[in-house]
Amino acid sequence: MEYVTLRGGVQMPLLGFGVYQVTPDACARCVTDALRSGYRAIDTAQAYENEEGVGQALAAGGWPREDVFITTKVWVSHAGEKQAAASIDASLRKLRTDYIDLLLIHQPYGDYYGTWRAMIAAQQAGKVRAIGVSNFLRDRYQDLVEFSGVVPAVNQVETHVFCQQRALQAQMARYGTVTESWGPLAEGKNDIFRNELLRRIGAAHGKTAAQVALRSLVQRGIACIPKTTHAERMRENIAIFDFELSPAEMEQIAALDTGAPLICRHDDPAFIRYIADLCE
Ligand SMILES: NC(=O)c1ccc[n+]([C@@H]2O[C@H](COP(=O)([O-])OP(=O)(O)OC[C@H]3O[C@@H](n4cnc5c(N)ncnc54)[C@H](OP(=O)(O)O)[C@@H]3O)[C@@H](O)[C@H]2O)c1
Repeated sequence: MEYVTLRGGVQMPLLGFGVYQVTPDACARCVTDALRSGYRAIDTAQAYENEEGVGQALAAGGWPREDVFITTKVWVSHAGEKQAAASIDASLRKLRTDYIDLLLIHQPYGDYYGTWRAMIAAQQAGKVRAIGVSNFLRDRYQDLVEFSGVVPAVNQVETHVFCQQRALQAQMARYGTVTESWGPLAEGKNDIFRNELLRRIGAAHGKTAAQVALRSLVQRGIACIPKTTHAERMRENIAIFDFELSPAEMEQIAALDTGAPLICRHDDPAFIRYIADLCE
């Protein structure tokens, strides 16, 4: 495993395991399989409704707390200083831990300045080691940097070979914010697992298209949290630290970038309406 050092000195594994769309019932089993496959970082969220499953797997496996990096996210319906603070305590209880390694604002909507203040206070109280954001596009990220007084350690955004986030990554690198990819396998869209270029490059290294896609991100210093419910795919997705893509291969993969998200647009009024409806 390779690590990236976040602002403030916290070490985060470059590859973790995501549990979005893993049912509460399946979550403990998947997290256990992932930990047994070598993952040492788990990405959950209040909105995934499976924080309990993560906590259960960690407790049942007897994993030393400091060996596993836990990320969770404050949901929009808990936005605002008081509600976010209460939701952080609820997450701690569900995760059966007294600290969260990385806490993110899940979406850039609602009173996220209030949420951010609650997260800063939680960090000062020792309940959280590092704080960051998710789905903050270039304008909202810059707004928080300029006006909140605290630079996010991480911004977790849709990032994969078809949406490489190069401008955002460069912008955030100036402040030391690490780019973290959600959807690193594009959620299987665009036939990514059968992409001709990724397969051809993979064949040269004895690797799959999925492994090349993930490797191309971690090689750019982007943290990844692929999700799968299959143990053999967990092992496949983590086996990306024993080969290196050449500069020519990285250049070919750079050409797959369309510059646009495939899964959702956080600046689309219809998407914001959809999230607002979810919160009602
Ligand atoms: N912050 C946010 O707003 C946000 C949004 C979305 C996701 N996330 C986080 O990012 C994590 C990953 O993103 P994601 O779950 O959306 O998508 P993803 O990891 O890009 O793709 C997951 C999909 O790919 C399949 N898959 C995984 N590995 C495979 C392999 N080696 N070969 C073939 N198929 C494979 C999985 O199927 P099976 O499960 O059937 O194997 C699943 O359908 C999430 O779990 C979550 O923690 C965050």
